Amino acid sequence: MIYELTKAAHIVSVIVFLSGMAIVEMFLRYPNANTLPAIQNFDRYVTTPAMLLTWALGILLGVLGGWFEVGGGFWFGLKILLVLILSALHGMITGRLRRKVREGNFDPDSATRTALPIGFGLVVVIVLLVTTKAI
Ligand code: HEM
Repeated sequence: MIYELTKAAHIVSVIVFLSGMAIVEMFLRYPNANTLPAIQNFDRYVTTPAMLLTWALGILLGVLGGWFEVGGGFWFGLKILLVLILSALHGMITGRLRRKVREGNFDPDSATRTALPIGFGLVVVIVLLVTTKAI
């Protein structure tokens, strides 16, 4: 029961983390001075803690499920690598958001145009890996 409850909490934190990332990415595409403080607070107090909780619960699942043990499956190692990349992507867009605030610059951020499709692609592969455990 503990394992299933942990997995349920893991999936909820994943959903909050990913929707928070999408909000920041959309904001960087269509910046607006009025909503900026709210977006920044949401990222600081909701999205980032959700990302940390996703990791903590994921590691707990790994320990409880014996997935860190030899033979736990290549899927797990590859999943962690892809989530590291996704977390770095979050770090990059949060950094650009912070800079926008500091500079008071409300021009669309062309550099992050690819962040949303890349993030989405990563999530599709992550979910396929963990649900099929095919490798
Ligand atoms: C955004 C990142 C993540 C996504 C989208 C994600 C998605 C999922 C999903 C959908 C499940 C349920 C799979 C099932 O019941 O078949 C799951 C389970 C699990 N996740 Fe994650 N996860 C993420 C991050 C992590 C991280 C960072 C770790 C470890 C450090 C991790 C470790 C696990 C483990 C061990 C399970 C249990 C597998 C099982 O019991 O079948 N996850 N994850």
